[in-house]
Amino acid sequence: MSDLIDELKTLRAEADFASADDPFALFARWFEQARQAESPYPEAMCLATVDEHGMPDARMVLLKGFDERGFVFYTNMESAKGRQISATGKAALTFWWRNLKRQVRIRGLTEQVSDEEADAYFASRPRGSRIGAWASQQSREMQSPHALEKRVAQFATKYAIGPVPRPHYWTGMRVIPLQMEFWHERPFRLHERIVFRRDAADAAWQKARLYP
Ligand SMILES: Cc1cc2nc3c(=O)[nH]c(=O)nc-3n(C[C@H](O)[C@H](O)[C@H](O)COP(=O)(O)O)c2cc1C
Repeated sequence: MSDLIDELKTLRAEADFASADDPFALFARWFEQARQAESPYPEAMCLATVDEHGMPDARMVLLKGFDERGFVFYTNMESAKGRQISATGKAALTFWWRNLKRQVRIRGLTEQVSDEEADAYFASRPRGSRIGAWASQQSREMQSPHALEKRVAQFATKYAIGPVPRPHYWTGMRVIPLQMEFWHERPFRLHERIVFRRDAADAAWQKARLYP
């Protein structure tokens, strides 16, 4: 048993994140390491929301940008997730980087990115994806198996010449974290967990260590 305790103490002393004070800087460091170590989609994250009955819902989305304001993904705001976020103004994100044996959990408030930010990202997407954003009525029921192809053809014809504008319902959402937890797998399920919490986006972070 004392061997186990010694090992845990050593691992804790070595933990590269235990002494971190800035969760954004720590996330940036871990994300960069994930980009080197993980394939495919180190930027994939599980986005959790709740519906109007309080029933949880979750799906994968891609992180398209982050800074001290928060974590941005893009979607159709008329989708299930879009409607849920519009109603609650809250969301949670989870990253799992299997090779690094790390998890990051984020909970917070949501805000829409600026039109300029959404336009710039939309314009950077391949033309087919821009047409797809018009063609897909994300999360609504398809009335026929060919409905999607028909709509793709319809919008490809409509926007055959010139730029494809961004649909008004397609934009980026930023999750402004009020809580960020960093988890690192350790032997015997005695994992390291560090959580940063704050009451508001402009409040100071409080750090705590959690039992695994
Ligand atoms: C790896 C991965 C990445 C995805 N990225 C996105 C994304 O960035 N935005 C998006 O709207 N859907 C993305 N999807 C699809 C969503 O998981 C989901 O099927 C879709 O957005 C509809 O979700 P909803 O009905 O809950 O709104 C992704 C799926 C996977 C598996």
